[in-house]
Amino acid sequence: MSTLWSGRFDSGPAEALWEYSESLSYDRRLAGDDIAGSRAHVKGLKRAGLLSGEDADAILAALDQAWSEIKAGQFDFDRGDEDIHSAIERRVTEIAGDAGARLHTGRSRNDQIATDLRLFLKRELAGTARRVLALQEVLLARAEGEEETPLPGLTHLQAAQTVSLAHHLMAHAWGLSRDFERLMEARDRADVSPLGAGALGGSALPLDPEFTGGELGFAGVFDNSLDAVSDRDFVADALHALAMVGVRLSKMGEEVILWASDGFRYVSLHDEWSTGSSMLPQKKNPDIAELARGKAGRIIGALAGFLTTLKGLPLAYNRDLQEDKEPVFDALDQVNRGLLAMGGLYDTLTFNRERMSEAASSEYLLAIDIADVLVNDGTPFRKAHEKVGALVRKAMESGESLVALAESDLGIVLEVTPSSGAASLARRATRGGAGPEAVRAQAARLTARLADQRAALPD
Ligand code: ARG
Repeated sequence: MSTLWSGRFDSGPAEALWEYSESLSYDRRLAGDDIAGSRAHVKGLKRAGLLSGEDADAILAALDQAWSEIKAGQFDFDRGDEDIHSAIERRVTEIAGDAGARLHTGRSRNDQIATDLRLFLKRELAGTARRVLALQEVLLARAEGEEETPLPGLTHLQAAQTVSLAHHLMAHAWGLSRDFERLMEARDRADVSPLGAGALGGSALPLDPEFTGGELGFAGVFDNSLDAVSDRDFVADALHALAMVGVRLSKMGEEVILWASDGFRYVSLHDEWSTGSSMLPQKKNPDIAELARGKAGRIIGALAGFLTTLKGLPLAYNRDLQEDKEPVFDALDQVNRGLLAMGGLYDTLTFNRERMSEAASSEYLLAIDIADVLVNDGTPFRKAHEKVGALVRKAMESGESLVALAESDLGIVLEVTPSSGAASLARRATRGGAGPEAVRAQAARLTARLADQRAALPD
């Protein structure tokens, strides 16, 4: 087996070492970015006078050919290809001969892999952000027209105060909006070129990291070569941004599970986005939502695992860093699929507005409204709370109506019938509140935010 480093060694690597250390089985996913990095490097070498125009052209053509072969699934990977960098360099040398042997001049796989991964994440994080935006759009669309659909808002999973279905759905959208921003911030972190840092100390050759960084479209260039090859903060940032999406989808999933359950029956799921039971014919299960909840575990695990990998590392490159790729790939794949699946689930579920209304019709949800009337009449809130609390107890013990008791005992007549739940809602008109007017204003703000986010995405 021939390796990139065979000169210094008497024998080839042991089989078990190879099995343990190869990364080609997964880092081939970086092939396109590796080729892009090599193209920029070749141009840099030519510009520095380290490659003749002829050699540079031969290498660039060989890189193109290797990339075509990879895309067509016709690239012959070799047992000796330790990683995607070795595989491509070997192939380029096969195609371009001596010129190919000049490709790695002034470069190390240490700055090469950091470059590849940054290019990869810049693209992928924008792709995930695009999906986050799409899910927000689904929620916004589903919220439209539901500004007056009453829903019991819960605290401690106990009915607390009526909100509207639109308000509730948009609450998730705002969370996703922050997730979008976090992903784009992580993308900005990745947007710094490490190419030219070499193995760890830069190069004595007249390379120009600013030129190659610019060729690759990076917004910035490294300032310290040791930092450039060992920095994986951008990977941790990406994993954190992804984990936050994973947690969001998990929480949204948990809610769909509850809402579809027999106790709630707030929603029914579309056949295309739910599953059945192999034994029990009547079952219709919210598997997507459960998987969103379950997969959050492994996505969080990717972040926790990778931070643990990083925490003991001295400067600069250590092979431990190879462990950055699998968690990133897996977290990205899981989050991307989860976003699509949850989008389909939310887009197609049917709201059972009657059930929501019925659940929001408990008079106890009006307790705070009664207290608010007292406060508006000048009663200190703490006293009002005490009075209404006693009234609630009386209603519970006697089985009488709370609204009727408010009138008989406190002289308070609530303007609208409590059964609609709308009474309480309509009174809450302040910014960000649950009342229909406030919710319409909120929807306009969310619409504007989504337009800004769409504009921030690369083409
Ligand atoms: N496959 C390696 C990684 O992913 C590439 C860098 C290897 N560098 C080295 N000096 N062994 O990190």
